[in-house]
Amino acid sequence: MSLTTLIHQIPKAELHLHIEGTLTPELMWCLAEKHGITLPYKSVEEIRQAYLFEDLQSFLDLYYAGADVLRDEDDFFELMWAYLERCHEQNIVHAEVMFDPQTHLHRGIEFDVFISGFTRAINKAKDEFGLSVYLILSFLRHLPESDAIETLRIARPYLDKVHAFGLDSSELGHPPAKFERVFNQVKELGFKIVAHAGEEGPPSYIWEAIELLNVDRVDHGVRCQEDEALLDYLKEHQIPLTVCPLSNLKLCVVDDMKQHNIKWLLERGLRVTVNSDDPTYFGGFLNENYVAIVDALDINAQQLKQLVINSVLSSFLPEDEKRTIMSAIEDVYSQHCN
Ligand code: ADE
Ligand code: ZN
Repeated sequence: MSLTTLIHQIPKAELHLHIEGTLTPELMWCLAEKHGITLPYKSVEEIRQAYLFEDLQSFLDLYYAGADVLRDEDDFFELMWAYLERCHEQNIVHAEVMFDPQTHLHRGIEFDVFISGFTRAINKAKDEFGLSVYLILSFLRHLPESDAIETLRIARPYLDKVHAFGLDSSELGHPPAKFERVFNQVKELGFKIVAHAGEEGPPSYIWEAIELLNVDRVDHGVRCQEDEALLDYLKEHQIPLTVCPLSNLKLCVVDDMKQHNIKWLLERGLRVTVNSDDPTYFGGFLNENYVAIVDALDINAQQLKQLVINSVLSSFLPEDEKRTIMSAIEDVYSQHCN
């Protein structure tokens, strides 16, 4: 069995995925037509050709503009459903999915509209595929902390639909420290916490995410390589890093996949995981991310297994559900080795 086949067959978890980053050019085009929105593109192909980025901000500008076609509950349902069908095709059995309420609230779309669309798709995927999905409510760090606090207030009636809170958007100039108060509130409510840190930002942002926000996982975190003490800390405490290889390539965090540090971090004993971030913008869903690093970095079957196990261990699933997935991974590996 080739490693590509193995990648496909292993049951996997995805922990770093922005649902707004799964909008395909086709769905963007279709929804623009449905709502009578004029896009700055003449065709689906032109949309696809616009996906050339020089850094995180150049991507975010396009990503927030694209999200404007999402207007009613069916649109949010369709967006989530298309991703969950893809999960099923790729043997993803558990997904922890971020959504950005402020992107939609600021356009006058009520919380009830997007959360209802998302949960309808999640329930259908649970019934039809046995897929488990947790939602992570993410705050936009380019906005003031007061806006995040207000978002948390608006989200209160829907918190039974949310498993964790996150922090994303433009990293440089917006350190985790800016959001200490809102994450204190989140912690008091008993939620898990994740934050993007060390994607473009310095290692000090990763320290702040750990020490000030009390994160359970760091999203990206690849710049930890620049700080020996941080590497030791992440290893000792097994703090998961949700790494997104194709995203790092597309946003010029690395110039070449052969230079990606995920294998180096794995070999150093850090709990790194593989994820797709914004798959329709970055050229690949989860399996394509695994294939890209296996090819470029010569990752072997045992290292691949460790990466997949790391994702299951780093998920927010209860222990018995983690054990069920782990034994399914063992089953696939025992077939692979025979
Ligand atoms: N929002 C969506 N994708 C993101 C990324 N890679 N970094 C920060 N914010 C994001
Ligand atoms: Zn991300």
